[in-house]
Amino acid sequence: MNNKVKIGILGCADIAKRYAIKAFQSIDNCEVVSIASRNPVKAKEWALDFNIQAEESYDSLLNNKDIDAVYIPLPVGLHKEWALKAVAVGKHIICEKSLAEDFESVKSIVSACQSKGVVLYENFMTDFHPQHQKVLSIIENGDIGEPFIFRSFFGFPPLKKDNIRYDSKLGGGCLNDVGAHIVFMARKIFKKEPVSVMCNLINDKKLGVDTGGTAVLEFSDGQAALMGFSFCSSYQNNYSVWGSKAVLNVKQAYSIRPDTKPIVELTQIQNYQEVVTQINAPSANQFEILFHDFCDTILNQENRAEKINNIYLRLLAQAKVLEAMRLSALENRMVEVKEIK
Ligand SMILES: NC(=O)c1ccc[n+]([C@@H]2O[C@H](COP(=O)([O-])OP(=O)(O)OC[C@H]3O[C@@H](n4cnc5c(N)ncnc54)[C@H](OP(=O)(O)O)[C@@H]3O)[C@@H](O)[C@H]2O)c1
Repeated sequence: MNNKVKIGILGCADIAKRYAIKAFQSIDNCEVVSIASRNPVKAKEWALDFNIQAEESYDSLLNNKDIDAVYIPLPVGLHKEWALKAVAVGKHIICEKSLAEDFESVKSIVSACQSKGVVLYENFMTDFHPQHQKVLSIIENGDIGEPFIFRSFFGFPPLKKDNIRYDSKLGGGCLNDVGAHIVFMARKIFKKEPVSVMCNLINDKKLGVDTGGTAVLEFSDGQAALMGFSFCSSYQNNYSVWGSKAVLNVKQAYSIRPDTKPIVELTQIQNYQEVVTQINAPSANQFEILFHDFCDTILNQENRAEKINNIYLRLLAQAKVLEAMRLSALENRMVEVKEIK
């Protein structure tokens, strides 16, 4: 490998077309080599559109020795199969969220990557948007006092009936798709793991997947995250952090276009009046920043082992919380995260 990571794309996914391929092509430390589809004709069409090569199949892409890393934007239920196949041939992996359907599957992917020293990223691109760094610095400055509650809603109106998110055989469901973003952000903002969770999932019996849910995640020191996620509501994409002195509101938290100026508002009460201050944060292409970091981790040998290990631990921690939420919903009880082994 020289100074660019050579990327292969597994599947002609909507997310790849709208954001990911262009983002990979805009950064300086990688090169998109080829794309594979279940349908080779589709792969050829996309390859032409993006000026890359087409592979005959997913397997032939994995066997292409010119490729160092694969981007996996497949349905969640297929992530484990293709991630394990990719590790087996020594490819680094950037997988769409959620990394897998359940904690056992995430553990098996992480353990395979660990044994081969393969870099593994889950595409929670919000991790890299500077607006959240801004939020963290405002909290650290003490401007909202002690942060007490993180509250977030993320969801959208019903999708087309044949969407992968409604297919139980493909690992569909709202918690792994949308709820996972909120769980990730709550852990990021509080900088720690929840102790216990109480979750309710709205299960569509016909489809066999959850189409929404609500949850409370309890952290230490009385801190909590309250959340709602949905595939069948009006559009929501926000979070607030309520502190002892003020509240911070982030208006476009998870899905945010590269040209959108983030709106972060600080709401304080002065003389019994609400005073709202808009705080500037830069626009950014969060896909590009995460992808650049992924390639940098592959290329840069300094402290690599330690960095990769920390990433594995974070992936496992996220998956553990989601598993605790599923168990809580199933058994209709509060679940301590330490119950998940
Ligand atoms: N990070 C984010 O914010 C974000 C946003 C949106 C989506 N995502 C994630 O990205 C992934 C893809 O989502 P999407 O909305 O882009 O889905 P999508 O358009 O349906 O793409 C999924 C692709 O998977 C391939 N595939 C393989 N086997 C399949 C099967 N049995 N049925 C259907 N498709 C199959 C298809 O490509 P071929 O036909 O070419 O093989 C299909 O185009 C999901 O994991 C989702 O959670 C992440």
